[in-house]
Amino acid sequence: MISKIAIAYNSKNKAVPKRKPKDIYAEFDSLEIVNAIKKAILICNSKYKVILIRADEECYKKFQKEKPDIVFNIAEGFHGRNREAQIPLILEMLQIPYTGSGPLALSLCLDKAKTKEVLQYYKIPTPRFQVIHSLKDKISKKLRFPIIVKLLYEGSSMGLYNKNIVRNKKELKESVKKLISNYQEPLMIEEFLAGKEFTVGIIGNKPRVLGMIEIYLDKYPQHFDALTYEAKGVRCDDAYSGKPRISKKLQKKICQIALKTHNILQCRDFSRVDIRCDKKGNPYVLEINPLPGISPSMEHISFFPKIARINGINYNRMVKMMLDVSLKRIALEKINLE
Ligand SMILES: Nc1ncnc2c1ncn2[C@@H]1O[C@H](COP(=O)(O)OP(=O)(O)O)[C@@H](O)[C@H]1O
Ligand SMILES: [Mg+2]
Repeated sequence: MISKIAIAYNSKNKAVPKRKPKDIYAEFDSLEIVNAIKKAILICNSKYKVILIRADEECYKKFQKEKPDIVFNIAEGFHGRNREAQIPLILEMLQIPYTGSGPLALSLCLDKAKTKEVLQYYKIPTPRFQVIHSLKDKISKKLRFPIIVKLLYEGSSMGLYNKNIVRNKKELKESVKKLISNYQEPLMIEEFLAGKEFTVGIIGNKPRVLGMIEIYLDKYPQHFDALTYEAKGVRCDDAYSGKPRISKKLQKKICQIALKTHNILQCRDFSRVDIRCDKKGNPYVLEINPLPGISPSMEHISFFPKIARINGINYNRMVKMMLDVSLKRIALEKINLE
């Protein structure tokens, strides 16, 4: 029986350092999300005691003192290329169960290039790419323009501006120079796919597709070639994504690719896979999010709750499902050990 649940989170409300790029906290959760999760958990069972633990340097002691039965983990971590794995690692050390993927999957999936290397090994289609460490790196002749330039370890379109989609060597050099000097982290340059974009929610102990949505880039008030930081800043964006406008056959193919991606990368309980098609309509995996954003806000839509919603699952039920699959997995792991 569980009675105490902790929500581990990073707060956006902390002071933002002055000299950092403006999107440095693009990934952090606001207290609005934490409170929505708490409310949803209490609706599942009003007898649960729900506590909030901020995922900072003090959290180890707090977990140790509070000894929650399970941690609902939405913490992206503060810094470093393994930041999303930090809370799961601490919790493994303390033998406290938690929701979602383990440290290996979280670290791997945060590295967009390593993720793609693993996918390539399993013949999952993903656009051609190269990692760039410095301006001096030679660009592979195999890469075709247009190219998109991304930070290697970030999410939520952090560092991904409209100008990162480049059409020639000159633009590529400018973009690489700017990003390396602003963010001091390696980049990934990747062939740009101009077709439709989708994102697929996965959930379950035996993982299944929760649903998928298409990102309606053509419906944005301004023209965007991709879900850049600028595009994600547009308000009231519920109309800019929805049911996929493609054949059932292609939907099935995309869902199969997403499910394989989740399994290959050893994600657990739930995840969200970003997929985009080329001009001919062939789907490719861009990345997987083992810690998908679950904001309840209708102003800045999170795709995982939206996928649930358009499939008839409201926010509270979605949170219950996430908790339930995690609790069931933990129970199954115990049985397997006995
Ligand atoms: N190779 C690509 N071709 C076309 N669009 C891309 C490509 N890579 C990324 N994008 C666009 O940029 C967005 C963010 O990229 P993604 O790899 O999902 O990183 P993150 O969501 O972690 O910032 C995608 O949703 C998509 O719109
Ligand atoms: Mg993405």
